[in-house]
Amino acid sequence: MPQFRILRFDPDRDQKPYFQSFDVPEKKGITVLEGLYHIIENLDPSLAFRSSCRAAVCGSCAMHINGQYRLACETNVDHLHSHTVTIRPMAHLQVIRDLVVDMKPFFKNYELIKPYLIPGEEPPEREFIQTIEERRRLDVKVDCILCGACFASCPVASTDENYLGPAALLKALRFVDDSRDGATMERLAFLATDFGVFRCHTIFNCQQVCPKDLDPTGAIQRLKWKAIWAKLKGKLPKVEVPAA
Ligand code: SF4
Ligand code: F3S
Repeated sequence: MPQFRILRFDPDRDQKPYFQSFDVPEKKGITVLEGLYHIIENLDPSLAFRSSCRAAVCGSCAMHINGQYRLACETNVDHLHSHTVTIRPMAHLQVIRDLVVDMKPFFKNYELIKPYLIPGEEPPEREFIQTIEERRRLDVKVDCILCGACFASCPVASTDENYLGPAALLKALRFVDDSRDGATMERLAFLATDFGVFRCHTIFNCQQVCPKDLDPTGAIQRLKWKAIWAKLKGKLPKVEVPAA
């Protein structure tokens, strides 16, 4: 019978976080998320965690499980090869309760990179046409599910609240590489400011933990090269840095 050891904290009630253990019935193929639902339905209805799709698509159930950030819905307890499943909330985001964290800083950074097309010309009546090759350039980068695991695992993001972080920067490359976007230089100028790509120390944690096997580290390095090239060519406009 696996034992779930969960870091709990209710800021309205507890002085500090503490671990609480629950026995979860042995069941072939049981996921960590199913174990959490067993606890909430049978042992302690006050346990707080997030989940939605149960299919590794919505990104809601990212948490720290046995030493690594993972999606609870796709983590098979058997595959952890441990009798104890230790679960913590994502780091350096404020705990609202138990495994639920406040994702506002993560989404604030996401908004800052303007995650939408800014066409350089009047949009056509029906749609912008892309070649197969142009569309292929966006492959993979569009697969981010905004789970926040990369952000939580990044030591730079944990010490500098202004650093945009790996998920926002990966998304920024998705728009920089989009043939339909007309704001490439403005984007690169913004990404080259103090809290952008050059704050990344190439630590690779983000790439290691991404449950969708994306490569934020590689994306950030590509953005660095693009920003340096644009700077050397004198193409970067002046941009306003938003107040922290
Ligand atoms: Fe999650 Fe990966 Fe997207 Fe980061 S890049 S938010 S780890 S899916
Ligand atoms: Fe952080 Fe990833 Fe860079 S972990 S420092 S964003 S390579």
